[in-house]
Amino acid sequence: MSESAINYLLTRKSVKFVQNPGPSDDELAKIMQTAMCAPDHGRLRPWRFKIIRGDAINKLLEISLSALSEAGTPYSPEKEAATRRWLGNVPVLIAVACYIDHSNTKIPEHERMLATGAAVSNILNSAHMLGYSAYWSTGLGTYLEDVSDSLGFDTLEHQFMGFVSIGTPIKDLPAPQRPKYTDYVTEWTGV
Ligand SMILES: Cc1cc2nc3c(=O)[nH]c(=O)nc-3n(C[C@H](O)[C@H](O)[C@H](O)COP(=O)(O)O)c2cc1C
Repeated sequence: MSESAINYLLTRKSVKFVQNPGPSDDELAKIMQTAMCAPDHGRLRPWRFKIIRGDAINKLLEISLSALSEAGTPYSPEKEAATRRWLGNVPVLIAVACYIDHSNTKIPEHERMLATGAAVSNILNSAHMLGYSAYWSTGLGTYLEDVSDSLGFDTLEHQFMGFVSIGTPIKDLPAPQRPKYTDYVTEWTGV
């Protein structure tokens, strides 16, 4: 792969506040196909996704807000208003879950979630490569059973893992300062 692709990857950043245009159907198909290239122990394909667009985003928001209230953790009026503003502009949301096939006892559950996370990473990177911005959030009641169930991910067999939003940034934000890899990487020489 060319060096320019790697250099472009080095500019990826999360952007929460996005608007139209979002990826076209063809672009979204390509983005989702890259998720299928994630590393996956046992070829379990544990990742599950729901594409949420248009009015379905509003429906999801209402479900999340009532689930949060019922759980005794309602959003403040300010947070609710901010969330409505945020989602009101988002062209596409992707709900992410990890399917846990309990009949398989060979591959640990955490490895299936890592594979699903790697699939999301491919989505974030391919959205960036197509010129969009994306953001992974575990807000919107991600850890509430009602939210997961409503999206068709029953919690007996799924670990719900949040939402990825994709679109065009509303504001052009500066690139974040990334750490030097040498602060996190050393070579182990066996001695
Ligand atoms: C699994 C996961 C869940 C996240 N959930 C949230 C979230 O709920 N709220 C939030 O502000 N950032 C959340 N983040 C962080 C952002 O997606 C993003 O990575 C962070 O703002 C850093 O930006 P960067 O990706 O450009 O480094 C989450 C990240 C991961 C990996």
